[in-house]
Amino acid sequence: MTAAATPPVLTVRNAQKRFGAVHALKNVSLEAYRGEVLALLGDNGAGKSTLVKCISGVHALDEGEILLDGEAAPVHSPAAARRAGIETVYQDLALFDNLTPAENFYCGREIAWPRWLPRGLRFLDRRAMNRDTAAVLERLRVKLPKLDAPVALMSGGQRQAIAVARATVFARKLVILDEPTAALGLRESRKVLDLIVQLRAEGNAVIVITHNMEQVVELADRAVVLRQGRKVGELRPSRASQQELVSMIVGAEG
Ligand SMILES: Nc1ncnc2c1ncn2[C@@H]1O[C@H](COP(=O)(O)OP(=O)(O)OP(=O)(O)O)[C@@H](O)[C@H]1O
Ligand SMILES: [Mg+2]
Repeated sequence: MTAAATPPVLTVRNAQKRFGAVHALKNVSLEAYRGEVLALLGDNGAGKSTLVKCISGVHALDEGEILLDGEAAPVHSPAAARRAGIETVYQDLALFDNLTPAENFYCGREIAWPRWLPRGLRFLDRRAMNRDTAAVLERLRVKLPKLDAPVALMSGGQRQAIAVARATVFARKLVILDEPTAALGLRESRKVLDLIVQLRAEGNAVIVITHNMEQVVELADRAVVLRQGRKVGELRPSRASQQELVSMIVGAEG
């Protein structure tokens, strides 16, 4: 069955976004489907991160609509978007510097007890959160020097690995990764690409932003290209279409 035979998880319709004089999104429409990796491509400043931030509740669209499983997506805040099943790994990594990996993992969804008490009165189960986080990182073979140190003390690659790992654990519908391998070495990048394949196999819709054409050809079932805020193309990436994609990105075809 092709992905297009099922209804889209995500529909963006006629999205418009301005930042003062900058018209960052110009009437952009796209769909994302379960079990599919969609590459979102474009040069620096094309509007990719802006679109992602609108989908994940960081910015509000000026015009247009965002639907999740056919209904208006409740993305008035990042927390609301997460509750609705949208996990995002931001380009400018949204981890809390002063918190440990486990605290970052469970931020906003802490394990706490006793369950019969209202949330605010429960005790945090730090041991459970540390244990589960360690297990996840172990499973993903992410090595950290110390699990109980604030993430501010970790390298860019380690931080990125934590953010991707967190998204894979909590993913339910749609996972958006904004340049997830940009700060990573070869081995770590490979790990993240494997995680993306796993997320797709688990039935998530995955949107990946990358400037790496090799990754696009290897991984993406479909690619959407933005240029200066406008959607300028959509195709099924392959070795044969790689040059065509590059032309769309830089605007060399016309
Ligand atoms: N918060 C903001 N305030 C003002 N302008 C913004 C803001 N965020 C983005 N922009 C502008 O909107 C345009 C699109 O930026 P965006 O970050 O979406 O690009 P991008 O495609 O993600 O680029 P890159 O590949 O460099 O990450 C740019 O001109 C940028 O300067
Ligand atoms: Mg960006």
